[in-house]
Amino acid sequence: MTRTVYVNGEYLPEGEAKVSIFDRGFLFADGVYEVTSVLGGKLIDFAGHAKRLERSLNELDMRNPISSDDLLEVHRELVRANEITDGMIYLQITRGAAADRDFAFPGDDVEPTIVLFTQSKPGLADSPAAKVGIKVISIADERWGRRDIKTVQLLYPSMGKMMAKAAGCDDAWMVEDGAVTEGTSNNAYIVKGDTIITRHLGNEILHGITRAAVLRFAREAQMKVEERAFTIDEAMGADEAFITSASTFVMPVVEVDGTAIGTGKPGPVAARLREIYLEESRKAAV
Ligand code: PDD
Repeated sequence: MTRTVYVNGEYLPEGEAKVSIFDRGFLFADGVYEVTSVLGGKLIDFAGHAKRLERSLNELDMRNPISSDDLLEVHRELVRANEITDGMIYLQITRGAAADRDFAFPGDDVEPTIVLFTQSKPGLADSPAAKVGIKVISIADERWGRRDIKTVQLLYPSMGKMMAKAAGCDDAWMVEDGAVTEGTSNNAYIVKGDTIITRHLGNEILHGITRAAVLRFAREAQMKVEERAFTIDEAMGADEAFITSASTFVMPVVEVDGTAIGTGKPGPVAARLREIYLEESRKAAV
């Protein structure tokens, strides 16, 4: 099926959608993005993603070409036009295409580029991986220092994913100064006794929208939460581990660097949080 995509104010068949070779997203990775999941034809945590987008743009002094209301409308129209029941919507905004390649940012006469497309993933919330858990390796975190901004500079995370694959694993947890920052495209957690431990917010990690919701639900369910750095050794000795993101929700992690975590099977805390997250966010979906 040919997707309908959105480019700079127009809905077009995917094959007709074009962006300039001078686009700064292409030349300088000068762009930001968001991924919003769709369950039952509705958007999960849209407000959180729209707010983080605004923040990413502000941090980079990049103009927002679309209002939050119009953005919601575009998301909904793409879900409708592409008959998405479960899946994701990818959104990217770049600083646009100046007349030539130039490191300096262009002036206000250059319009930002905005692109959105859908990814259909029927049964996204019933992923078989959630039942068996995923395996991760640890790698050095070699990304830039402003990981709190959701930029399209994803080469190192892609390389991390390939390193994990080469090791027969599913993902990589990145380590800096001895502590885990996050997964290649997700936030990382361990569970020790009755405490959920995940890295504190800062420039070192992306402030996950799923993370914020999951921690809120955990606290509401009287679970203990510690926001602090943890090491791979601590993860190996933990009772459970899991990741969160808009595309995986809450996903158990059962092995790190070849060592089984806890029983080596998905644990009860991750399972419970996944259940609560899916239930509550489906209720709040728009
Ligand atoms: N990635 N950390 C990183 C580095 C991420 O790329 C992501 C999201 C997260 C989780 O954030 P959220 O809960 O808001 O999805 C954490 C998206 C899903 C992606 O790149 O596809």
